Amino acid sequence: MPKVNFHYNGQVKTVEAESGKTILQIALDSGIPMEHACGGNGFCTTCMCKVKEGMENLSPRNDREENMGVTDDPDRLSCQTEIRGDVTIEVIEY
Ligand code: FES
Repeated sequence: MPKVNFHYNGQVKTVEAESGKTILQIALDSGIPMEHACGGNGFCTTCMCKVKEGMENLSPRNDREENMGVTDDPDRLSCQTEIRGDVTIEVIEY
C-alpha cells in the first residue's frame, strides 16, 4: 500500500493507506488534525496542504481546485486529491 508521510505540528507521521483515498480521509483516519470547514466538498480551502514529494503519485488537479484558485504546485486541496503512490504532505496549520 502507498505510504503517506505527514509533517504537522513539528512531527512526522507515516501511515499506509489505500490507493484512491483522499489526503483528507487519510489524515482524519490517522488522527492527524486537518481543517475541513466545508466537510470535504471543495468549497473552502481550509484543507489545503503542500506536497513536498510525490506530486506525480496524486490524482490530477480537478475543477473544484481550479475554481478555488488552488492551481499552483505544491498546493493541493486535501479533500479533492487522491493518492496513487507514496507522498509527503505538509499540513498547513491555522
Ligand atoms: S475541506 Fe473544504 S475544500 Fe477541502
